[in-house]
Amino acid sequence: MDPSEELVQYIADRIFPRYEKYYSHNMVHINNVIENMMMLADYYGLDKDMAYTTASYHDIGLNIDRENHEKESAKILRDDKRLKDYFTEPQIETMAIAIEDHRGSRKERPRNIYGECISDSDRDFDILLLAKRQLATSLKSYPGLATFDEHFNRCYDYICKRINQNGVFNLWTNNPVLVERRDKFQKEYLDKNFTRSIYKKEWDRISSDGTKEKIINYYEDY
Ligand SMILES: [Fe+2]
Ligand SMILES: [Fe+2]
Repeated sequence: MDPSEELVQYIADRIFPRYEKYYSHNMVHINNVIENMMMLADYYGLDKDMAYTTASYHDIGLNIDRENHEKESAKILRDDKRLKDYFTEPQIETMAIAIEDHRGSRKERPRNIYGECISDSDRDFDILLLAKRQLATSLKSYPGLATFDEHFNRCYDYICKRINQNGVFNLWTNNPVLVERRDKFQKEYLDKNFTRSIYKKEWDRISSDGTKEKIINYYEDY
């Protein structure tokens, strides 16, 4: 069963436009997370409306406070009166808690299955998407780095450390589809020349089409 049409329409009209000024967390990211989340909802027999809504709201609070965006996003969901037409209070609370627990850097297991699924769905396992997000973060947070290789090496070391410590790419559900995607991604990522070539292409693109300036001056996430 698909999520209810009316709910999907409300989210498309009122929630998705709020991602317009996000760069790495734009609708490409949100649609990927929704797709993963609906796959997991099928697999684990979750409520489709709850799965869809959790995925749609999970990063919405990024422009308020990046470091606490999981709490800001959960607050926006809890405060959204329209959602009370579709969900009970306990359902809203379950979704809000799931969003609060979605960060990949979190060490403790999410408090409910929706949290485990949204956290796992949030992994892109795509080197080009990771390059896009990491280079943007690097440009904003490390303005002292000048050359491509300085930025690339910082990004690459950060991910390798996480891969080797089984940190960032830990999966709570161990869903077989995601485990396979992760293992393939990690294997390819560790080929440094291959990964560097993808980051370099992305760097050249954002350097020549004005994106770099927009990352620094326009977009609201990073
Ligand atoms: Fe997030
Ligand atoms: Fe996300």
